[in-house]
Amino acid sequence: MGAAFLQALRACLGDPNVLVDGDLDAFEVDWRKRYRGRALAVARPSCTAEVAAVVRLCASHGVPIVPQGGNTGLVGGGVPDASGRQLVLSLARMARVRAVDADNLTATVEAGCVLQDVQAAATAHGLLFPLRLGSEGSCTIGGNLASNAGGTQVLRYGNARELCLGLEVVTAAGEVWDGLSGLRKDNSGYDLRDLFIGSEGTLGIITAATVKLHPRPGATLTALAACPGIDAVLALLRAARSRLDAGLTGFELIEGFALHLLARHYPDLRQPLDAPAWAVLLEVAAGDETEARERLHALLDEASAHGLVGDAVVAASLAQARELWQLRESIPLAQAREGLNIKHDIALPVSAIPGFLAEVEPRLRAEVPDLRVVVYGHLGDGNLHYNLQAPQGMPAADFLQHHEASLNRCVYDAVLARGGSFSAEHGIGALKVAEMAARKSPVALALMRTIKQALDPHGLLNPGRVLPPP
Ligand code: FAD
Ligand code: MLT
Ligand code: ZN
Repeated sequence: MGAAFLQALRACLGDPNVLVDGDLDAFEVDWRKRYRGRALAVARPSCTAEVAAVVRLCASHGVPIVPQGGNTGLVGGGVPDASGRQLVLSLARMARVRAVDADNLTATVEAGCVLQDVQAAATAHGLLFPLRLGSEGSCTIGGNLASNAGGTQVLRYGNARELCLGLEVVTAAGEVWDGLSGLRKDNSGYDLRDLFIGSEGTLGIITAATVKLHPRPGATLTALAACPGIDAVLALLRAARSRLDAGLTGFELIEGFALHLLARHYPDLRQPLDAPAWAVLLEVAAGDETEARERLHALLDEASAHGLVGDAVVAASLAQARELWQLRESIPLAQAREGLNIKHDIALPVSAIPGFLAEVEPRLRAEVPDLRVVVYGHLGDGNLHYNLQAPQGMPAADFLQHHEASLNRCVYDAVLARGGSFSAEHGIGALKVAEMAARKSPVALALMRTIKQALDPHGLLNPGRVLPPP
């Protein structure tokens, strides 16, 4: 059966676009190197019709499909399991910008378009596609939508869902749903687009999307400010929101230990602040540079007068702004270099964050006294990356084996007690399926299973991801 399937797949895509031999690590191992699977093959279609043909072939042979974009996902949802039975369906060759409609403020792009290329297509028309992630040079718009990615501009422009107007999707039966609408208003029935966004490849294969573009702000300005404590950070956020309103486009939190890890693994990155307890990366947009500078300086002066901010630097050039962003975006890379760690991508009401931080760390240390806690994230959205690194000298594998379950329990109990979420922006994938089973309400799970059963009755789309077995 495997041989007949592969032969038919080759006939459909051509030999070079069906990978079975050689080094397939790029497709079989996830970015964090927590999941290493084995694929039946990697299929690389070039157009929607080929995706549909591959899905029909899989349906007739009962072959499970793992859709994959840039393979930068952090929850193990885009790599095959170890069975050697799952087909990786890579969208990487479908990378065309089909159209930009500047008057309608939309772009229609294929799923395998790298996020940076979508941004560039908007820029070429004097417009902005505001989804911004540290992985933007490799992740794809299909993967962004499938995981409803967030990133650093959500407080101003929303997450991937809010930036998408229409989708083209290949269904589990191999049919093409053309929902590539650029309409801002369309109440003609259930919103199918929103079903597929965030479904992590379990309900359909996204082959193209119509995304929202925005006017480019006249100027943006970036600053890095030191804050003495988390209460001061929250007070700064309050002040920034009230002074800047929609002009506040980024408010990123970085705890001191994250900067210490950066210094260890990226010594060439210039750190302008002197070992702050907390740092905040602020981005402000305004009509022109003078206005942006006036507004940002007024905010920082006021915050400093109230003791909310100590040292602060405002980027004097675009190159300096890029350097400040590079500091923030390199934190996950520094953590990866430090060793495998436990990631908690959590959402909380912003007001609950100080209480959460004060309560949880002592509890975690009661179990692992020398635990290293790495905190950063998109504070403006209430999204913390509350990551746990093994004590210095403890092998990461031992740390995960002995402590992951209990540390997770402690963190997620505290998150849910405050009305938070155990997955803010990275999704569920394979990593958090057990949390879904344990922590999602039975009603929510039953509704999700009903949807899955309706759209993928044979369970061939990314099985084992997102939904726990019944
Ligand atoms: P993949 O990793 O290939 O796939 C992700 C999921 O989507 C998988 O379940 C896969 O099966 C499914 N999928 C992929 N393509 C399709 C498709 N066309 N149709 C259906 N299903 C599909 N995430 C954030 O939200 N915010 C951040 O700030 C952020 N920063 C990051 C920084 C770094 C350094 C890294 C490594 C990752 C970061 N991520 C972030 C996570 C990741 O980049 C995003 O989740 C991204 O959206 C994944 O895109 P991808 O193309 O790599 O998807
Ligand atoms: C980030 O905000 O840097 C990303 O979500 C990636 C990560 O946390 O690893
Ligand atoms: Zn993030």
